[in-house]
Amino acid sequence: MSKVQVMEHPLIQHKMGFIRDKNTPTKTFRELVDEVGMLMAYEVTRNLDLEDVEVDTPIQTTTAKRLSGKKICLVPILRAGLGMQESIHKLIPSARVGHIGLYRDPDTLQAIEYYAKFPGDIEERDIFVIDPMLATGASAVEAITAIKKRGGSKIRFICLIAAPEGVEVLQEAHPDVDIYIAALDDRLDEHSYIVPGLGDAGDRLFGTK
Ligand code: URA
Repeated sequence: MSKVQVMEHPLIQHKMGFIRDKNTPTKTFRELVDEVGMLMAYEVTRNLDLEDVEVDTPIQTTTAKRLSGKKICLVPILRAGLGMQESIHKLIPSARVGHIGLYRDPDTLQAIEYYAKFPGDIEERDIFVIDPMLATGASAVEAITAIKKRGGSKIRFICLIAAPEGVEVLQEAHPDVDIYIAALDDRLDEHSYIVPGLGDAGDRLFGTK
């Protein structure tokens, strides 16, 4: 079974309080989501492999460390995933970015893919799927299924807030995918919003309603 890691770093938890607050303005909300994305990336990348390299400092030659060429691909789930992607990309500028767009079929409530574009060598890459909210789990499951269909296999899922229902669904469908979250909330409401949650992440990021 996959690992679920709740990131309890005080900076993350402090910022999450403002992110949840309905009175936080759009601009601040966007900045905070971006910042938490970066802090989470720091933790998610903790185990990346390093290799030794020789570097000439102005004083002498020394052995320094470098990421060992492992290739990374970020996959934000449109559209709310975009809110966390940029800061993670800033930390890992060599990462490629795939995108996947999903909508919910109003009758079946299934997540349906309407857009997908991934790097051609996705099967070689460590893949970070990004979506701020893991609610029912339907989008996460569908996005990861779509990536696996194209050959991706080393996948981690990063989100701000998860509902226990979503974690269960994702773990059941993709037991090989570790899940990194900033908060595990109580439950879903009858409209599949996370309680207490933060409302609609996409609307709050982009100022829509
Ligand atoms: N998506 C959101 O943006 N918010 C929720 O609470 C659930 C899904």
